[in-house]
Amino acid sequence: MDVFPGNFFFGAATSSHQIEGGNHNDWSVWEKKNAERLARESEKEFQRNPNWQKFKTEAEDPQNYISGRACDSWHRYEEDFNILRSLGLNAYRFSLEWSRIEPQEGKWDESAIAHYAAMLRALRARNIEPFLTLWHWTLPLWLAERGGTLAGDFPEKFARYADKAAESFPDVRFWITLNEPDVQTSHAYLKGQWPPQKKSIWLAWQAIGNLVRAHKAAYRAIKKRLPQAEIGVAKHQIYFEMARPSLLNHLLKSAADYVWNFYFLNRIRNSQDFIGLNHYNRNVIRNGFNKNPNALQTDFGWEYHPDSIYGALTELRRYHKPIYITENGIADASDELRQKFIPAALSAVRRAMAAGADVRGYFYWSLLDNFEWDKGFWPRFGLAAMDYKTMERKIRPSAYAYKALIKEEFKN
Ligand code: FCB
Repeated sequence: MDVFPGNFFFGAATSSHQIEGGNHNDWSVWEKKNAERLARESEKEFQRNPNWQKFKTEAEDPQNYISGRACDSWHRYEEDFNILRSLGLNAYRFSLEWSRIEPQEGKWDESAIAHYAAMLRALRARNIEPFLTLWHWTLPLWLAERGGTLAGDFPEKFARYADKAAESFPDVRFWITLNEPDVQTSHAYLKGQWPPQKKSIWLAWQAIGNLVRAHKAAYRAIKKRLPQAEIGVAKHQIYFEMARPSLLNHLLKSAADYVWNFYFLNRIRNSQDFIGLNHYNRNVIRNGFNKNPNALQTDFGWEYHPDSIYGALTELRRYHKPIYITENGIADASDELRQKFIPAALSAVRRAMAAGADVRGYFYWSLLDNFEWDKGFWPRFGLAAMDYKTMERKIRPSAYAYKALIKEEFKN
């Protein structure tokens, strides 16, 4: 592989609700109400997945759908950071849990803030650059109760929280305001699968508008306190790939790109210092969508196609901004595919850089196996495998492959 620049960030990503454990927010309440149903519906949902037999027992157990202790990272973060260090990673993306910092409206929990400050110090002590996400989907209950992202004053509340975070953690240079606003909105309001499960195009439209306003307000709040901060969103981008360039395929691609990939980014165009790219899928267009050959699938039932990140990255060149790949990864309990995935994805990243994409960092999703939202614990995305009974973390061979690659890059 060609050489990445010496200041390139190689990292891994997580989010608070998926690893911390012991959270009390809109998701933890929803999980308890929906665990039985999710377990019952899992076979119908996943039976077409070629790997269903492998995780059937776990997926049919209601406990799988309750985040509970998760990875207990709230208490074991030093151990997590030692894994980062031992792999030679120089950056870590994680999120603050809003419900811990502001458990009641307008009342800050200083002990939670002190805890996150200690985490940041522990990262610095290991020479690991933090990339801090403010909102990775979970909401404090007081805010969820008055409408969550739909609440009229959501942007204002979010900006006040961002301001508090900027005041509390002035050493943080890289800020991610929102994680995948479009994915959260479409699951909550278009598909009606995630809390608050309200299916309505109108509500989805309103939520997106509010998230645009929330990002912009938070951007201003952070910049005011920390003019040097670099701020962006982690945006879910699909690479819409035409099987061949016909007129119909072009039309379909343009429409999909406009709605899914570029609408949000265009609306916040002047309020972002970098683009955060979360990338998992391509969508092959051949007189219609989703014509992927699906020759190989991950445990999630997603097509294995590490190369599609090349397309996603080159299409972001239009913004003329630095790009950080804030998430990219696969669910693979066997770890066989992941060992090939990481080198293949990084080689596609390098090619995109040679083609002019200004990529400055890559975060593998995820550092650890974790709580995968309404799918629960069975999908295994981690560089380290979790034993949820003993809380033991075991570094997988693919993580060592990642380490070897980084070592190779930084040697030059
Ligand atoms: C992304 C989410 C992340 C994780 C991965 C698999 O869409 O941002 O929390 O669920 O997918």
